[in-house]
Amino acid sequence: MTDVQCEACHGPAAEHIKDPKASYGAMETPRACRGCHDPQNSAAFDYTTYWAQIAH
Ligand code: HEC
Ligand code: HEC
Repeated sequence: MTDVQCEACHGPAAEHIKDPKASYGAMETPRACRGCHDPQNSAAFDYTTYWAQIAH
């Protein structure tokens, strides 16, 4: 994903950089995906199958 960087999903990393032991990943899914993958731009969006493609 060239144009969708870590912070687009995870938010600013400043907190994580201040304390690397604090978790970086916590986010509310699929709501966080839906901000971009809305019905107009991504009608076929399905969290389970889409997450499988980018799981990390
Ligand atoms: C398309 C959205 C998206 C992008 C872009 C993205 N992530 Fe994630 N990431 C997620 C989701 C969703 C999870 C799973 C979160 C969960 O289970 O609460 C996750 C999990 C993680 C975790 C595990 C966190 C934990 O506490 O177990 C790390 C670390 C992480 N991401 C780092 C990164 C880094 C570094 C980048 C950039 C190279 C990145 N992510 C890009 C959506 C994304
Ligand atoms: C900041 C906006 C944004 C967020 C948030 C986001 N995406 Fe995306 N996603 C995109 C864009 C834009 C593309 C098309 C990328 C391209 O063509 O380079 C894409 C493409 C994808 C693709 C490739 C398949 C396709 O339809 O092109 C998958 C899979 C995907 N996203 C999953 C997710 C998941 C899962 C989440 C939530 C954890 C998520 N995305 C959150 C913007 C976002």
